[in-house]
Amino acid sequence: MCGIIAAATEKSVGKLLVQGLYKMEYRGYDSAGVALHQIDDIAHLRSLGKVKKLESKMVKEKPKGKIGIAHTRWATHGKPSEENAHPHVSNNRVFIVHNGIIENYVALKEQLLKKGYKFNSQTDSELIAHQLDFFLNQGSEMLEAISLLKEKLEGAYAVAAIDLKNESHFYLMRNKSPLLLGQSDSGMFAASDPLALADLTNEFVFLEDGDVAEVSAKEYKILDKNQKRAIRKITTIDVSSEAMGKNGYRHFMEKEIYEQPTAILNTLDGRIGGEDVLENIFGEGSNKLLSKVERIQIVAAGTSLHAGRVAANWFSAIANLPTQIDYASEYRYKNPYVDKNTLLLTISQSGETADTLGALRYAKERDYLGSLTICNVPTSSLARESDFVLLTNAGPEIGVASTKAFTTQLTALMLLTLSLAKARKLNPRLRGRVVGALRALPEKITESLELKPKIIKIAKEIAKKDNALFLGRGIFYPIAQEGSLKLKEISYIHAEAYPAGELKHGPLALIDKNMPVIALAPENELAEKLISNLEEVKARGGKLFVVGNAAGNMKLKAKNLINLPECDFLLTPILYTVPLQILSYEVALLRGTDIDQPRNLAKSVTVE
Ligand code: M6R
Repeated sequence: MCGIIAAATEKSVGKLLVQGLYKMEYRGYDSAGVALHQIDDIAHLRSLGKVKKLESKMVKEKPKGKIGIAHTRWATHGKPSEENAHPHVSNNRVFIVHNGIIENYVALKEQLLKKGYKFNSQTDSELIAHQLDFFLNQGSEMLEAISLLKEKLEGAYAVAAIDLKNESHFYLMRNKSPLLLGQSDSGMFAASDPLALADLTNEFVFLEDGDVAEVSAKEYKILDKNQKRAIRKITTIDVSSEAMGKNGYRHFMEKEIYEQPTAILNTLDGRIGGEDVLENIFGEGSNKLLSKVERIQIVAAGTSLHAGRVAANWFSAIANLPTQIDYASEYRYKNPYVDKNTLLLTISQSGETADTLGALRYAKERDYLGSLTICNVPTSSLARESDFVLLTNAGPEIGVASTKAFTTQLTALMLLTLSLAKARKLNPRLRGRVVGALRALPEKITESLELKPKIIKIAKEIAKKDNALFLGRGIFYPIAQEGSLKLKEISYIHAEAYPAGELKHGPLALIDKNMPVIALAPENELAEKLISNLEEVKARGGKLFVVGNAAGNMKLKAKNLINLPECDFLLTPILYTVPLQILSYEVALLRGTDIDQPRNLAKSVTVE
């Protein structure tokens, strides 16, 4: 969502704050701002749009300061504008940056208005600055003020603040929104994402819910939720900015599509051996837990939910287990029934998606057998708070559209399926076959990447359209959903996905020569039925593009067919995803959209 960074060093911190904002820009990019303590005053610069605009302003105005805070925003309360950009200020004294949502902001704002405070933005964040100013005027020191503020706020927040009357410290406060400290010999830093501090330090301290902190260039002091001095563990994380470069690709999304063979190898590394999946790959004791599982509850959002939908098919077919699957944003509000021995499975690239994290926290209070997460970010809240974790090890994914995160999630979910089958003593031969197919998968993905020239030709036709339909059957329906999400997200073409058999129950009315239909047609037991569905589209003049080998005798023009390499049927959903990713990317390229940072979106959705 938004990104926060703060720094205290012996030199001016303006440049490093902006560099940090660039590294977090994928989290939000509506507006950006910085506040730098210049001893006599605080330089306060904000701009609408991306960090580049803020940087130009800074180059012109040359603010200097050894203490500073900065922010890149994804609008929640109040439209993207300069007034709504952070840092927010009160009485030209207190400057704050905030991630998250203050749920009781209406009541708190009312109280502050009565006290004479004027609001210059439509955000829920500005009140934090005014409330701190109020406590300071009542005689509190900043650390006390921020602790008092914590008692008033409801919701999720990560906050960094500076005070004009205190030139040597910045202050932090966290509840349900990620915030960590970075320490080094050259200074102290804080950020909502360790990537922002790449190349500055590799020693991090994770703040916990209810923590407040006072930080100078040399030291920091943390008070926990009970106002007691807290000593938190130092975690070493090697974040190199190299992994965050485009390495010659035009966009991060393109780079991440091409990284998939290596990313999948990394997901498999150390997890399979001989003809089976290895023991306890989800952590010590995980096999014991898996042997007790009788039902699975999946909770996830967006692309990660699509991965869950594919996995639900695998759990049933290979491990004989029933699965319930819910949108993370819905799950907690439906009073879910928890059956005996149900495993709570969350899936998330970032591990910080507020809805998914909320679901995990809710589930921990219910009668689940345990919680397991498939996640890409080892330091994320989801990875730290779940009982068991399987990291996808895909490396940082920066493009807002999820690509390698999805195919590695599917790979990890197949490892989970095999582990469950093994724990239940099921299908040993099939397990051996799938393990072999997993080993061959990176090579198959590399082959499918070579289909790009053909896909570009199809992209040229789709780029001219306003709508598109994606069709799949069975385990390919979630892949069709993923293809349609990718297309709408980065090209802004309206796209929908249907199980092909549903067409005649309504959507067929949409078919005419202006409606491209992209169908996933693997050779499987549903192929014949699918072909009949596609004939219905053809008969009504729909423009058909078929991915897969089952459409051989449909008399389609070769240029509208994309044949994929042979692959074990159980893994075909992973393989069929790749041409759909390339298609969306090429369509977006032709339409000239902002591929890595599509409008209105953010990489990590840390608000509900
Ligand atoms: O980080 P998560 O996997 O929890 O994120 C969930 C969704 O926000 C995410 O998959 C989103 O749908 C992607 N932008 C899709 O490409």
